[in-house]
Amino acid sequence: MSDKLWGGRFTAKAAEWVDEFGASIHFDQKMAAEDIEGSIAHAKMLGKQGIISTEESEKIAAGLKIINEELIAGKIEFDVKNEDIHMNIESLLTEKIGPVAGKLHTARSRNDQVATDFHLWVKHRLPHVLESLTELQEELLTLATTHAGTIMSGYTHLQHAQPITYGHYLLAYFEMFQRDYERFEFNQKHTDILPLGAAALAGTTFPIDREFVASELGFDSIYHNSLDAVSDRDFALEFLSNAAILMMHLSRMAEELILWSTYEFNYIELSDDFSTGSSIMPQKKNADFAELVRGKTGRSYGALMGLLTTMKSLPLAYNKDMQEDKEQVFDMMDTVLASVKVFTGMLSGLTVHKERMLATTQDDFSNATELADYLATKGVPFREAHAIVGQLVLTGIQSKTPLQKMALSDLQAVAPQIEEDIYDKLQSETAVNRRTSLGGTAVENVKKEIVRNKKILEAR
Ligand code: ARG
Repeated sequence: MSDKLWGGRFTAKAAEWVDEFGASIHFDQKMAAEDIEGSIAHAKMLGKQGIISTEESEKIAAGLKIINEELIAGKIEFDVKNEDIHMNIESLLTEKIGPVAGKLHTARSRNDQVATDFHLWVKHRLPHVLESLTELQEELLTLATTHAGTIMSGYTHLQHAQPITYGHYLLAYFEMFQRDYERFEFNQKHTDILPLGAAALAGTTFPIDREFVASELGFDSIYHNSLDAVSDRDFALEFLSNAAILMMHLSRMAEELILWSTYEFNYIELSDDFSTGSSIMPQKKNADFAELVRGKTGRSYGALMGLLTTMKSLPLAYNKDMQEDKEQVFDMMDTVLASVKVFTGMLSGLTVHKERMLATTQDDFSNATELADYLATKGVPFREAHAIVGQLVLTGIQSKTPLQKMALSDLQAVAPQIEEDIYDKLQSETAVNRRTSLGGTAVENVKKEIVRNKKILEAR
């Protein structure tokens, strides 16, 4: 017999390095608190159901509570020989209370235990993700309020397209983070399901009470199929998928923060506490933290692909492959929380160069659509109007004259429908403020959206 908790049918011992290869204690110890929490609930249930005596149940629960205190005090050392967090805690419990500890594993398997711990771990942390997203959204609304009327160029293909407001731009990200919020909120639904009681894969012959355990642990619902309970990692995949999408959003904004703080753009400046210098070039101020968030996005995709690939082709029910589910989730939880926090900080200290933003809309041709629309409202078919304005833009580029600086007679020579009132329409401010269509960039729209979005945050 080997000295393992499961060693009864074994005669030979594995080499230490083989044990280490199979062990997960170096990372799954992060779930120690959840493992203890789950075990206490299970022990209580066993006692209540008369599967073990009340005295035994109380002894086990008391022992687990002491281990938890020692854990918090940093007094516990885990042993790789005990493979994972579940067997480490059980072995510590045996040291504390003797052989009665062995009764804890009645009507339970590590398969439903690990799934329960993992569910609990994610369940405990999703609210932090939601809180951090709310803080980021609040920061965006604060900045959008200041800049509801700050005019800048909007881009497509990174070429000047049409003027927009910086506030409108910020609210676009508010919407993305709102969808992220809703995804993580939904993530809670599939995380909030209790696997415990599925035992190894088929359920148990013991008269357990899964509803009781669910209510002890605060689970909303219970897996209805024991095979699914121990094999499902959708909640983790959904978390990783949500995290990847969120990181993609952050990365897009990071790219703009980086680009817009260059000498060439000079739209914004990051605060000193969210920038770094160079060890050789004294003038440098680098957007390192935005770059790092952008960089970490790669890791988030890797995590999602990693677990998707691990799960692919796994026959039901538990397979050891699934031990690979945790590290990426642990890592992504830290990554998401830190990245969102860094973003909130970067935005709160941001300096916005309004004049520079406005100026870039005044010697360009981002008002060309205004002129085409103007002609269209005067009855010129839009395609024709487009061609006429295209010609004017071409002469404007050659003579370095933006449309609003061209003489009326020159404009009329190309399109006699043009009158004096075109000059107002060609102002970027007018162009912005006439875009009152639902979802458009007009300042009044942006202000209304801020009010609507504030209500969304207040209702949380
Ligand atoms: N350490 C394992 C994991 O993380 C626990 C479950 C082990 N179960 C088993 N039958 N080997 O997946």
